[in-house]
Amino acid sequence: MKNTLYLATIEAGKILKQSFKKEFKIESKDIISNLVTEVDRKSEAAIIEIIRKEYPEHYILTEESGAIITDSETKWIIDPIDGTINYAHGIPICCVSIGVEKSGELILGAVYNPFMDELFFAEKNCGSFLNEKRIKVSNENDIRKSLLVTGFPYNTSKSPQSELRIFSKVLSVDIPVRRIGSAALDLCWTACGRFDGFWEFNLNPWDVAAGTLIVTEAGGNITGLGGELYSIYGKQILATNGLIHQDFINLANE
Ligand code: IPD
Ligand code: CA
Ligand code: CA
Repeated sequence: MKNTLYLATIEAGKILKQSFKKEFKIESKDIISNLVTEVDRKSEAAIIEIIRKEYPEHYILTEESGAIITDSETKWIIDPIDGTINYAHGIPICCVSIGVEKSGELILGAVYNPFMDELFFAEKNCGSFLNEKRIKVSNENDIRKSLLVTGFPYNTSKSPQSELRIFSKVLSVDIPVRRIGSAALDLCWTACGRFDGFWEFNLNPWDVAAGTLIVTEAGGNITGLGGELYSIYGKQILATNGLIHQDFINLANE
């Protein structure tokens, strides 16, 4: 399964690179700012084809074409481009993200940014890797010295209170925050120590399936924003190096 995962992620990454800054169709989905491009669809079709060839019986959950539901215990969870807005604007901060669940537990994850040629990979109980080199979360234990990252859902206008409350709490104590526009990369960059922590509301399983395994296998901690048990099907995420985790929860909830 590992080889198929690598192959699918890398082939899809090549598609992103080939079409980058070329002319392609862009459509809005449920709201005007939530985009899908022709390249998202092409990338997703290529990934599905590679998986179906090897594992026709597996369950597949994708962002753009929904689910191929089977009674297999193995589920592939696919985001063909995470960071579509960046991609559509010619910003090379985006990636392909594929996670694999077995009986409800994440067992494999791969995230590939073809523009930086960075392939993040994790296997349950075997660690996390960036281009085959082992990665670890940072060892910063002072939240005031941390670099954090967040993102905002496309429909923030519908319920801006929680998003803005936590964002302003963090800013009120002068902690630097980035917003790079790809939740999968937010997680991977936390896993390799570039960021000390990441939080967001209202993500979908395809945004986070691979990245959450990459963080936990790199030694990080993931919960909800109040410290509750995390699920990729839930609506809030706090992923940190573990050392600043409780301080973030205290700050967010004070
Ligand atoms: C989005 C990105 C972004 C996050 C959004 C996601 P997409 O995914 O991960 O960072 O803030 O909530 O929907 O639409 O580019 O696949
Ligand atoms: Ca996404
Ligand atoms: Ca996407």
